[in-house]
Amino acid sequence: MVGLGTWEYNNSVAYKATLTALKVGYVHVDTATMYGNHAGVGQAIQDWQSQNGGRREDIFVTTKIPGGLNYSAAEAALEASLKDLGLDYVDLMLVHFPAYWDGMGSAGPEATDDREFDHMVGTLYQSFSPLCGPCGTSELINGKLVTEIGKKYGKSGAQVSLKWQVQQGIPVIPKSDEASHIIANAQLFDWELSIEDMIKLDAAKSPPVTGGGDSKTSGDCKIP
Ligand SMILES: NC(=O)c1ccc[n+]([C@@H]2O[C@H](COP(=O)([O-])OP(=O)(O)OC[C@H]3O[C@@H](n4cnc5c(N)ncnc54)[C@H](OP(=O)(O)O)[C@@H]3O)[C@@H](O)[C@H]2O)c1
Repeated sequence: MVGLGTWEYNNSVAYKATLTALKVGYVHVDTATMYGNHAGVGQAIQDWQSQNGGRREDIFVTTKIPGGLNYSAAEAALEASLKDLGLDYVDLMLVHFPAYWDGMGSAGPEATDDREFDHMVGTLYQSFSPLCGPCGTSELINGKLVTEIGKKYGKSGAQVSLKWQVQQGIPVIPKSDEASHIIANAQLFDWELSIEDMIKLDAAKSPPVTGGGDSKTSGDCKIP
């Protein structure tokens, strides 16, 4: 339910954050060709295996190849990802910014939103940028609503924001290179937000949904 994000991290930051996360028990890391940090993420996985007795089969590694490639270019990108990561396989290979075809909507089952659509086609719906990293506001980390709610539970605002997501069954991939934050972001499973607090968080109108929103965009603020 919790993985480590690595967008914008160079190899050395990605190495440090990934190794820290794996050492404290994370079993999922998210990277991408476009992030340019496969070598750092891969080296951390290898060092965790050799220095901490970690087993490759116990973790779930996601990466992404660029969208819009033809068959042979996609195959080459897949091979390059594995080589740069130093891994034999990844657990999930996504297409970053896949092309959208007008026919897709009508070909798929009827759904009122992305989450429902994913459920209907058997795809796991995951929250990226779960702390609104690129939104230009730290409201989901230290805003009034999440901070006030957190006080009741002895939790930080960031933990409240992440808990609100995982309590709905949505996996999250927060990014941090601070060991204390990496640890805190995974401490979400021995407490529960009350129904009243979930309703308050559901009703929040801020920060706004900033990106996409129509049927032809991914709703991801045009970020990778
Ligand atoms: N299309 C896609 O597939 C896609 C798109 C966007 C993102 N993603 C993935 O989602 C990941 C996460 O999204 P994001 O990178 O946009 O950022 P994010 O996780 O929404 O937010 C990261 C920010 O939150 C801070 N933070 C994290 N934990 C904290 C804590 N416990 N207390 C206080 N501050 C905390 C971090 O600072 P500190 O370092 O100081 O903790 C950082 O500034 C990405 O890295 C990427 O792997 C995927």
